[in-house]
Amino acid sequence: MNFSESRLIGEKIRFLGHDITDNIENADMIVVNACSVREHAEERALGWISSISSDKAKIYAVGCLAAHVPQKLKNAGADYVSREIKWDEFPSAGGERAFSMKEEDLPIDYEISIVKGCDRFCSYCIVPYLRGEVQSLSPEEIFADIERCAAKGGAVFNLLGQNVNRYNYRGYKFSTLLEDVSHIDGVKKLTFLTSHPADLTEEIVLKVAQNDKILKSFHLPYQTGSDKLLNRMKRGYNSEGYKNKIRMIRNILPSMRLTTDIMVGLPGETEKDFRDTLDVAEEVRFDEAYMFAYSPRKGTLENLVPERIEKETAGKRLSELITVQNSISLEKKKERLNQKDTVFMKSLSRKGDFTLGILSDFSPVLVDAPYQRGKEAEIVLTELKGATLFGRLVQ
Ligand code: 5AD
Ligand code: SF4
Repeated sequence: MNFSESRLIGEKIRFLGHDITDNIENADMIVVNACSVREHAEERALGWISSISSDKAKIYAVGCLAAHVPQKLKNAGADYVSREIKWDEFPSAGGERAFSMKEEDLPIDYEISIVKGCDRFCSYCIVPYLRGEVQSLSPEEIFADIERCAAKGGAVFNLLGQNVNRYNYRGYKFSTLLEDVSHIDGVKKLTFLTSHPADLTEEIVLKVAQNDKILKSFHLPYQTGSDKLLNRMKRGYNSEGYKNKIRMIRNILPSMRLTTDIMVGLPGETEKDFRDTLDVAEEVRFDEAYMFAYSPRKGTLENLVPERIEKETAGKRLSELITVQNSISLEKKKERLNQKDTVFMKSLSRKGDFTLGILSDFSPVLVDAPYQRGKEAEIVLTELKGATLFGRLVQ
């Protein structure tokens, strides 16, 4: 989400005639777009701002963090603090201009915001307070954004929202949006996140399964396996309900890639609750998971339940969960060895010796083949080194 916003900010700054630099020393203005979901991210952003604060460059802090702790940002050294950039006050460098770059250097994948804000108010989460009401962008706005990116060489599009399943523009729904976007010229691969389990419908899963351009992948956070905590978190489902959604997806397409978010150390989490969380991970066998220790945020569950979990206990649970999940992720990758799949070539690998691509389910892969931007090819998966899958072309 922040990534797509940062891209838009960057584009707009270029549009105003400025150059973007990789070297912070050369910058006259540094825009920091930061997240506030967990305290750790907040502290890192504040620390970074203090460390770069200088007389030369002005610092413009935007994003959730700017809405949450404006004074702390100013104290850390930010010159401007605002939830969104105030473009009419932003310095212009003398007019609008076209931006030119060689095609191979232009990004091939783009993230496109389709829903802003969130109205689910999960009790631990600060996002609805900072990002405001749910607002679905109009299909025209979304198509125009995608067409603009496609004209610059974009081919892989990731539609973003805190809860994309809730996308609804005057009755125009998410599954229709997916279908229509897949027909835009230049769109080769399409994916989206995040799906909220309570709002995920069979119609959406069928659309993903049946449309060739849509990658076979769902990011479906379950957060915890404990029904008591799910209830406190106001997630709108229990663990059986969550597993039913997984069954629904796998009945439609057994090979669907499934990723998730999991939290541990929530107030009131007992050893049994944590075991229930591990059980869901072991039963579902996600391809990947993002795992977090609960971070108390003002105005959320923090104030509702006094039964805080010791930091040390939360840390231990998090490491245990990460160990279990990492071994499942590796096993799932191993199971793919010697299988065929199609690859979509995205770029050269960092060292330049392989082609970096995505498989039909959005998994990354390194292919031993000459890089051809946007080319699709049949490959066989040959090797797993660390957590990286390798493949070669099927002759
Ligand atoms: N503490 C820790 N993790 C959180 N998330 C949301 N709020 C918190 C919090 N207070 C996690 C959830 C969500 C992901 C984006 O961040 O798992 O799905
Ligand atoms: Fe936060 Fe996601 Fe819940 Fe919205 S759906 S309140 S963003 S955890």
